[in-house]
Amino acid sequence: MQQLSQVQSLSKKLLNEQYLGKVSSIRNQSILTLGKDMCLLRGATLYGRVLNYGCGPAIHALIPFCDLGNEFHVADSNQDHLDEIQLWLDKEPDAFDWTPYFNEANKICGRSVREVFIRQRTNRVIKSDIRSFNISDFDFTYEAVISTFYLDQEAKSITEYSEYINLLMDLLLPDGKFGFLSIERTGFGAGAIDKIFSRYPDKTITTIAGDNETIVCIKGLK
Ligand SMILES: C[S@@+](CC[C@H](N)C(=O)[O-])C[C@H]1O[C@@H](n2cnc3c(N)ncnc32)[C@H](O)[C@@H]1O
Repeated sequence: MQQLSQVQSLSKKLLNEQYLGKVSSIRNQSILTLGKDMCLLRGATLYGRVLNYGCGPAIHALIPFCDLGNEFHVADSNQDHLDEIQLWLDKEPDAFDWTPYFNEANKICGRSVREVFIRQRTNRVIKSDIRSFNISDFDFTYEAVISTFYLDQEAKSITEYSEYINLLMDLLLPDGKFGFLSIERTGFGAGAIDKIFSRYPDKTITTIAGDNETIVCIKGLK
């Protein structure tokens, strides 16, 4: 029990460190903008299913899609992060308050984004570890897969990085869109991420320079 509360506090710690009062951070702004751009890519057509892989305890990546997607799935290897999301979906009193992110997304997207859509349409919270990825954990394929900042510490080599990205690509429907954010670090050398994605001809890459890090944003693959 003690161990459980310690792990849970790690999710709360992450929420407090990375998201509380941090709506203007370059990472969080990039996440909201990625969603907005992916919705523009789709034009007037609605997305069917949208997956956020490596979601952490956070729902903000889905906010721009709220009224433009029919169904939302979130996946992460950490059950406690997923439990945090469930707290928010269930409107539990100690859930994190994402209101500032909805307000910010209203401005970024230029339309009214509402919590009720995310709550009603998030119908799968999936525990999945990319290292033991099992496609049958996912019942469906997706019209959009978003993944932000989850591989930054995970991949041990550029080959592994590339394999993990391929697994997510395989979840996409033929006309599906992939949105990906990563810090352009890596012990894999400058431009490594760009190199991984270069095999996909229809990509759009944006590089965003922050104070301490450069973020690579890839969207619209396939
Ligand atoms: C830095 S957080 C990013 C959270 C969120 N996507 C964001 O951009 O704010 C990285 C997330 O990746 C998840 N993660 C790490 N290793 C993973 C793995 N092997 N499979 C699936 N998810 C993993 C972690 O549990 C964590 O929630």
